[in-house]
Amino acid sequence: MQQARSVKGNIFMNEKLPRILLIDDEENCQRVIRDVFNLEGIDCVTASSGMKALEYFERMDFDLVISDIKMPGMTGIEILRSIKQKKPETIVIMLTGYGSIDEAVKAIKLGAYQYILKPVIVEDLLAQIKELLGKIDSERSVSPLENISKSLPAGKTLLGKSTRIRNVAKLISKIANTDLSVLITGESGTGKELASTAIHYASDRINNKFVAINCAAFPDTLLESELFGYEKGAFTDARTSKPGKIEEADKGTLFLDEIGDMKPSMQAKLLRVLEEKEFQRLGSNKSKHVDIRVISATNRDLKSALEDGSFRPDLYYRLNAVNIVMPPLREIREDIPILANRFAKDFSDRLNRNIMRISDDAMAALQRYNWPGNVRELANALRRAVALCDGPEINKYDLPPHITMEDSSEDISSPIKQKSLMLEDVERDHIINVLQIAKGNKSLAATMLGIHRDTLLRKLKRYGIN
Ligand SMILES: Nc1ncnc2c1ncn2[C@@H]1O[C@H](COP(=O)(O)OP(=O)(O)OP(=O)(O)O)[C@@H](O)[C@H]1O
Ligand SMILES: [Mg+2]
Repeated sequence: MQQARSVKGNIFMNEKLPRILLIDDEENCQRVIRDVFNLEGIDCVTASSGMKALEYFERMDFDLVISDIKMPGMTGIEILRSIKQKKPETIVIMLTGYGSIDEAVKAIKLGAYQYILKPVIVEDLLAQIKELLGKIDSERSVSPLENISKSLPAGKTLLGKSTRIRNVAKLISKIANTDLSVLITGESGTGKELASTAIHYASDRINNKFVAINCAAFPDTLLESELFGYEKGAFTDARTSKPGKIEEADKGTLFLDEIGDMKPSMQAKLLRVLEEKEFQRLGSNKSKHVDIRVISATNRDLKSALEDGSFRPDLYYRLNAVNIVMPPLREIREDIPILANRFAKDFSDRLNRNIMRISDDAMAALQRYNWPGNVRELANALRRAVALCDGPEINKYDLPPHITMEDSSEDISSPIKQKSLMLEDVERDHIINVLQIAKGNKSLAATMLGIHRDTLLRKLKRYGIN
């Protein structure tokens, strides 16, 4: 790939340099534009054919694409069509000679942002592109992410610039101040808990409690007493009375994590509280009124649980007034640099290290990998890298080996090579791999997976792994 690094360098811990893709078959024109742009701190990747360009487009994120219209082989119009099909939000600028204005007009109709007449005056082009990049950046930085982040506790900010994450943030700020129940779904480690905290802190319940309970962590009877509380003498061990999570969350937010693991008998009891806004402590017949906002989360497929009868439809609809879907990390690869830089900085600060940057090839490996464990796995990879790193820069070899193995992402992402695309199968395989790396040490494997040892033990049992 013809790509020169900007003299302004890889400015650490800042977000990545703006990156554009320039497609032009005239090598001279290409080189002049690339050199000037790179000197100005714009990462300009060049391609002299449509095929090459689309290959780069698949692999990297670009803030903007500039394409010549007339080229041998694939034309600029065909490239535009293909780009718009893959990522409709991409800004594409066409370069065109006087002779092909008709084509340029067609390009605009197909969604090109604008066309620029050739021959190009590089300084003018640079000024236009800088202005455009500035506009894109400011649109992104007045993102709803900031609105919902203002009052969040440190380290609880939902990071990301991708459209998917910004849409999540937009939805959160829209519904935060309502009492609508929210069901957050998504794979493990995608930020469901983080999103639930964001809702609470963006709501007018902020001055009251955010109370979380993991429904999978308790056997049925214990979960009941945790949720409802109990009076002294309600059962053998009840030596004093104790309020439950529902009562604690009064006027605040109750977060029911792993709701998909709740047993039907508890589901019925929970539904009653939500419908009647009243509950009784165990061992009491006095009803208490509560005013709670309920957020629940699961990485289970609740729709199939509805079908097989293990989850009550009436509770499902009661919990799911709004559904927030957290995207898996492999679908928001453009957010990886922001997240990785933030984690590197946080762990570096915490460990009193002075790590200044993540090397380009390490970052490229992070962006290539398939992330079955999502953001949590990314955070753990950076935690390990910060601990192992010798100098001011995190290098590729500081990352866990399974991430840097060139073809590991291909193995996982290629549906042909892969045995199964079922999330559970991928999770099972990943756990086995990690257990092998940890030489069977379950505590270590749990740490590497970023989950509690009990959670790992439950998963081992579920997947029948010895
Ligand atoms: N968009 C994000 N920005 C910053 N940090 C994130 C983001 N998404 C996830 N994280 C971090 O990743 C880790 C996992 O997130 P979280 O616990 O919210 O995931 P989860 O979806 O609830 O996972 P699980 O299903 O396993 O409970 C946390 O440390 C969280 O802070
Ligand atoms: Mg969680």
